[in-house]
Amino acid sequence: MTKFADSKYVKALCDITFRSYDHGWDERNGGNVSLRLTAAELAEFDDLTEVKRTYDLGFDASELAGQYFLVTGSGRYFRNVIKRPELDSGLVKITVDGSQAELYWGFEDGAKPTSEFPTHLMSHIARLKVDPNQRVVMHCHPTNFIALSFTQALDERKLSRLLWQMQAESLVVFPEGVGIIPYMTPGTNEIGAKTAAKMADYRVVMWPHHGIFAVGADLDETFGLIETVEKAALIYSQIMAQGGQIKQRITDDQLKELAQAFDVEANPKFLA
Ligand code: 13P
Ligand code: ZN
Repeated sequence: MTKFADSKYVKALCDITFRSYDHGWDERNGGNVSLRLTAAELAEFDDLTEVKRTYDLGFDASELAGQYFLVTGSGRYFRNVIKRPELDSGLVKITVDGSQAELYWGFEDGAKPTSEFPTHLMSHIARLKVDPNQRVVMHCHPTNFIALSFTQALDERKLSRLLWQMQAESLVVFPEGVGIIPYMTPGTNEIGAKTAAKMADYRVVMWPHHGIFAVGADLDETFGLIETVEKAALIYSQIMAQGGQIKQRITDDQLKELAQAFDVEANPKFLA
């Protein structure tokens, strides 16, 4: 009997949620992750035959009909997923009409998908239009990145350039820069739509005074993207802590050379 609970997908979710918690990005129930899986990938598991519960999605997710998502539960702690994934995460399938999610595994003590599930699903839809390999949406509360939303203008060009200038890795890992939405109430369809609209152009979106949304082809890549953005924000914090006097910096010409050397295209609106 091949059980989904023992799958590499659940193991990878446990690993990423605990590592994110360990970085200090997921106090209490902060943060949520969703991983898209297909029926073909799940065919080997014998314990996914019955729909245990259904959840209303509150918007039309029919573009994802038939897709499965391994997702963290609302109010559940990233710190605990590794100890009890069958309680704090669940595997759901989007119904044909896109109005509901059917639970096939997990959430055994009554949890439901994250309150940010609308943002996750809307972001999956938006990213699948530009990247057929899109699989993961991850949200968490990285301290230094959030701090930037207080001290810096909420300007995508300025913030992206600041992060690029903090270390040579940044531009290579997120050459398109980062998107920013205005401050909005979390857990709503409105913030979901606003975030997803940004996802057409960016894989990282700042939620000012709250956190980060990032997307990618797998959990490792998405986590690495968040790590790189947060590291750049941390370097900026340290520069300010050391007095803020910048004596030398990475120049625009050096950023252009970097893009050329690593064969990435820097967002032309941010680096002309
Ligand atoms: P959930 O517990 O519903 O996932 O919410 C956590 C969070 O970070 C909200 O933005
Ligand atoms: Zn949050």
